[in-house]
Amino acid sequence: MLRLLVALYAGLSFAVAAQAQGGEYEPREGQEGKDVIWVGTPDALIERMLDMAEVKPGDYVMDLGSGDGRIPIAAAKRGARAIGIEYNPDLVELSKRKAEAAGVADRTEFLKADLFETDLSKADVITMYLLPELNMKLRPKLLELKPGTRIVSHFFDMEDWKSDNDTVVDGRPAYLWIVPAKVGGKWKLSYPDGKETAELTLTQNFQLIWGDLRQGGETLELGAPWLAGDRIRFTVRDAQDRPHQYTGKVFDGRRMEGTVSVDGKQTRKWVATRVQ
Ligand SMILES: C[S@@+](CC[C@H](N)C(=O)[O-])C[C@H]1O[C@@H](n2cnc3c(N)ncnc32)[C@H](O)[C@@H]1O
Repeated sequence: MLRLLVALYAGLSFAVAAQAQGGEYEPREGQEGKDVIWVGTPDALIERMLDMAEVKPGDYVMDLGSGDGRIPIAAAKRGARAIGIEYNPDLVELSKRKAEAAGVADRTEFLKADLFETDLSKADVITMYLLPELNMKLRPKLLELKPGTRIVSHFFDMEDWKSDNDTVVDGRPAYLWIVPAKVGGKWKLSYPDGKETAELTLTQNFQLIWGDLRQGGETLELGAPWLAGDRIRFTVRDAQDRPHQYTGKVFDGRRMEGTVSVDGKQTRKWVATRVQ
């Protein structure tokens, strides 16, 4: 079984047990871990993953199963605050030493903990290099994170929650997801500047949305519906077939606010409150 897992990890052909040798602890690629072995993500891919997640100063980055700390350290070098969650205490101590040597000890933290028992709610960005079944075990928790949280996984996807972006570096894939706001349901839509109201119906499958707007006795199908985190966009066509673009923001899944533009010019504001 261990051989199979190691082979999955980008062609490594054997695993060697971890060993502390005389002096400083040195992890070995393929050494056992609580739920998954340790193999580090190559630096070039780490940079690409952090690019995809648009990691910037002020972000709080969490690496789940942080190994020797290389992802939190790289994120901290970009000015983010970063925490590594790692079950192996030797790897935790090694990460602290490496962060110190890299000059980012003040922006990094390494915690000896089980990633499945860790509160993830403060993260702006989550990175992971785990296993398919571990990604799927985490998925319900990830979907409850604040809309807009970016999740990047090296190698393994999340089945029918399709990624928002992906990349390949030296044959190794990585995937990005943006946690979508929960917008599926019925909404009463109104225009604060006028009396007109409408009913917006949205169906949602992860970040994919579709639906219609019932307004002025007509049912208008939403064109190009798009949801990214808490940002939403769709168009409806008027009787002259002109597209009206609705752009808005979702607040705690119960309210949306935005503007309507026609021919690139903002024409009015809209608000929506959830009715179902
Ligand atoms: C494949 S390595 C990835 C290391 C690092 N994230 C990277 O990409 O370079 C997975 C790491 O998860 C750790 N790990 C395994 N199960 C864990 C658990 N339940 N909680 C925390 N860490 C765990 C392992 O010790 C190992 O260091």
